[in-house]
Amino acid sequence: MLKQTPVCAADLISPEPQPFKWRMGVKPLDNNNWLLVDQYRDADLKEIGRLIDTQRDEIIYSEPSAQAGCEELSGEVLRHLRQKPDLENVTINQHNDYTPIEAIRRIVQEDLCLLERRPEGWTMTACAVAIPTQWDVPSKYGKTLDAIHGPVPRYDTDLSQPMGTFFDRLRPEAPVWRANRTLTDDPSLRLMPQRRHQPMNEDLTVANVADRVWLRVEYQTLRRLPESGVIVFTIRILRQKISSVADYPQAFGELLRSLMRMPSDVRGYKDSTWRHARLIQEWALSTGQLTDQTLTES
Ligand code: HEM
Repeated sequence: MLKQTPVCAADLISPEPQPFKWRMGVKPLDNNNWLLVDQYRDADLKEIGRLIDTQRDEIIYSEPSAQAGCEELSGEVLRHLRQKPDLENVTINQHNDYTPIEAIRRIVQEDLCLLERRPEGWTMTACAVAIPTQWDVPSKYGKTLDAIHGPVPRYDTDLSQPMGTFFDRLRPEAPVWRANRTLTDDPSLRLMPQRRHQPMNEDLTVANVADRVWLRVEYQTLRRLPESGVIVFTIRILRQKISSVADYPQAFGELLRSLMRMPSDVRGYKDSTWRHARLIQEWALSTGQLTDQTLTES
């Protein structure tokens, strides 16, 4: 169970199965932890507002059929946020130019995706994704889960079927969360897809990698809304410098062990993460933070 907020990225690292397999990795969500609020809220919302104002078409998407789900989501978000300290009076700015999902996105630190069941599968009919982790948001507009995950190697064999079944069976009273990890030397909120395959920065060395590279975790939640039946997927970014992650030896060991064991097709997909992981491993071995034995333990 996830501890109460605030959480850090290292808190969300859990062991991965061996041999490698993508897994659903979903855990029951305590409703109090649906949307996370921390001391960066004001700064994050300012940046989100700026991104939407300047790049709206690459962030906001909404089909007419998503209207009922977005309205229900507005109510859920307000009810949830108003239980948090200092947010008792929070409101949604109903600016005439804002679509409902955009208006909601401007008051939460999470990116939002709304999915509806269509004959061809669960389909993303609305979203407000301002701070993706190296993926191309507009190419996913109006797409099914299978199409959205097209670039992910092994998705067909490991995830497509279990995910379809899981989404069909997700009940409003049983929301879940999962997490995803990336290593990057860019602490920005919004990471463009090109970053994934960019060569590693030449300035990065074994000596400075722990202070220059960040663990970036996507804390993801899935909830079905009872009235409209839509599924809401939230993505909250948590960033932590590697030097700080190393203060959590168990999580740090798990992280490196799992990244170093990725098969070659997955390394190719998680390209820059893989290259950063190798340098971090070198640093951890050179400082004695990790040993060859901890890295090969099962
Ligand atoms: C239980 C639900 C889900 C599971 C198990 C899952 C699993 C995964 C996995 C394993 C990856 C590759 C991750 C990596 O880089 O380490 C991925 C990537 C991704 N997922 Fe999901 N996912 C889920 C739900 C969703 C939903 C609901 C959406 C959006 C509606 C979504 C959008 C994406 C996108 C955009 C990527 C990146 C694809 C790219 O590289 O273009 N996922 N997902």
